[in-house]
Amino acid sequence: MTEQDEQRPFLYVVVCAAGIASGVGTLIGAARERGWRVGVIATPHAMNGFFDTAAVEALTGRPIRSAWRRPDDPRPFPDPDAVVVAPATFNTINKWAAGIADTLALGTLCEVTATGVPVGVQPCVSAALATHPAYRESLIRLRGMGVRFGSPYDGADGTEFGWKPALDLVRQER
Ligand SMILES: Cc1cc2nc3c(=O)[nH]c(=O)nc-3n(C[C@H](O)[C@H](O)[C@H](O)COP(=O)(O)O)c2cc1C
Repeated sequence: MTEQDEQRPFLYVVVCAAGIASGVGTLIGAARERGWRVGVIATPHAMNGFFDTAAVEALTGRPIRSAWRRPDDPRPFPDPDAVVVAPATFNTINKWAAGIADTLALGTLCEVTATGVPVGVQPCVSAALATHPAYRESLIRLRGMGVRFGSPYDGADGTEFGWKPALDLVRQER
């Protein structure tokens, strides 16, 4: 990696366990084309067959993070210049809003919203789950913390998942 490469901004892509996660390479490829270095943080559930982890590691050139490092290990990723959560599940959105940090992905999200780093979220949540009052309150709470959301997506009507629009949510900060 050249010195110039090292100066490129660093994007965290947080991947949750939704079926659409199999397409996350689209987001990573688009981010790299826009000049981002990319590090992927996946929830433990997402690591369980939801996407091709080897292909993603080949694309980013870095191991996927899913668990906390050991105290004496070096920090694997630099601090982020932006974070995109895609796909974001019902579960992770509600836990994040509630301040629960029992996965590395959640711990990272809970922390990063306090730093002023731009965070964009593309949820993948069924229309039925999206009516749950806890979910509606989570969106209000996270928006109040400055988190930006893409259009609702439930995969039902054949529309394309917003991988590139998710990236647009953090574009203006570069
Ligand atoms: C095949 C499959 C597809 C799923 N798709 C979604 C989805 O699109 N959105 C969602 O919120 N949950 C979905 N789930 C349920 C989540 O995987 C489950 O709530 C899990 O606890 C989420 O964990 P995470 O938020 O830590 O990634 C799916 C589960 C399976 C088995």
